[in-house]
Amino acid sequence: MANTVLIGAQWGDEGKGKIIDVLTRDVDWIVRYQGGNNAGHTVEVGEEKYVLHLVPSGVLREGKRCVIGNGVVVDPFALVQELHGLEARGCSLTDRFFVSDRAHLVFPYHRVLDEAREAKTKGCKDNIGTTKRGIGPSYGDKAARIGLRVGDLVDPVFPELLAAAVVEKNTVLSALGARPIDGEALLRESLEAAESLRPFIADTVTLLHEAMGRSESILFEGAQGTMLDLDYGTYPYVTSSSSTAGGACTGTGVPPHRIDQVVGVIKAYTTRVGEGPFPTELTDDAGSKIARIGNEFGATTGRPRRCGWFDAVVGRYAVMVNGIDRWAITKLDVLDEFKTLKICTAYECDGRRLTAVPANIRMLERCRPVYEEFAGWQCSTREATTFEALPERARAYIRRLEDLTGVPAALVSVGPRRDSTIPVTPAEDRVTA
Ligand code: GDP
Ligand code: IMO
Ligand code: MG
Repeated sequence: MANTVLIGAQWGDEGKGKIIDVLTRDVDWIVRYQGGNNAGHTVEVGEEKYVLHLVPSGVLREGKRCVIGNGVVVDPFALVQELHGLEARGCSLTDRFFVSDRAHLVFPYHRVLDEAREAKTKGCKDNIGTTKRGIGPSYGDKAARIGLRVGDLVDPVFPELLAAAVVEKNTVLSALGARPIDGEALLRESLEAAESLRPFIADTVTLLHEAMGRSESILFEGAQGTMLDLDYGTYPYVTSSSSTAGGACTGTGVPPHRIDQVVGVIKAYTTRVGEGPFPTELTDDAGSKIARIGNEFGATTGRPRRCGWFDAVVGRYAVMVNGIDRWAITKLDVLDEFKTLKICTAYECDGRRLTAVPANIRMLERCRPVYEEFAGWQCSTREATTFEALPERARAYIRRLEDLTGVPAALVSVGPRRDSTIPVTPAEDRVTA
């Protein structure tokens, strides 16, 4: 397969883990390029369910090689725990899992700072509803040029670097009224984690370039989603990394001309977890029905996800900023029982019709969706294995999503398992019923 970037086109949890696992069959390398253990990517293999947070979802296919790229922020304790968990379930990592020496580290003081800010803003307008994994504070240190990196963990000067960081962070924590960090205990635990991680730490930039030199293919696994991107998302209700396709280059050292295609993963409806505007959010029975059938609870924090109708304005925006070539449309089966479905085609705001996502967050909060209504198919899509086997109304729904976003679907997912994935025939080759 060509070098492919896979991104979430909404607010995360689009089913990226499942689609990565399906596409992994045809690639050599799977690479995470941003985010950290705020991600929760679910993969179901037979009767087994895995939730990956830092390790690429491709790890569940034997023999495939996985990389945590330099753009990711790595909590060393969470990573060690995840690696042990995978090994305990029979997943071998030796010589096929690598973590970039340039990736920045997340330490407990980042988590405490994240938690302190969330606690301070609880119930206020500027509460973000983060995953409290320390992601924002760690990327903050990276941008401020005071962060520690994975390579530092195994450098003899690490104790001094950590001690200096702890002194500075404890000053901030005390000012916030939070408990200071015990620097000595943190050093001891960090050195232990460093020993567990040492065999996996590598210059992943060179590793990936050598792989490309052998014509091996790479699948870039995006975390979060377009609307959570630091630049393009609903700022400030976003995460702190570049979750859009461009992040795949800055987050791995693979240059833009080596990217062959971009696959956008998009749910047949919309969800969001955490605070911030969400124009198609449903606070009525339809929303609870989607949440119940779709089992919409966060894979990382267990929080209930907010649910709403499909938003084609967001879809078009995601196509624009990521250069999406093909869609993987997920969770179509969740809509099976609905009598009526709606798709948002534009927003109404202050008496004007908008067809693009406004940058101004206050304006986005005032946007009201303009809907198109569809008759639901009201039968199960779960058993379908071909596009033609889907009910006609389900096919019409997918075609409308393609038309409104200007991008064809390559895959439709009708269940969490690998085999519930339908390849989509290009529109021009489709036999209409
Ligand atoms: P990610 O963060 O984008 O990888 O998505 P999550 O794993 O957080 O959430 C997606 C959830 O939907 C997981 O529980 C998946 O097992 C599940 N899922 C994925 N695709 C489908 C599908 O087509 N139908 C149904 N019913 N569930 C799906
Ligand atoms: P995956 O990869 C959904 C959201 C949080 C919060 C905002 C900032 O599983 O799709 P952070 O902890 O990153 O500072 O929180 O981003 N968020 C996600 N929402 N899926 C995710 O990842 C998310 N990662 C972060 O809920 O609103
Ligand atoms: Mg998730």
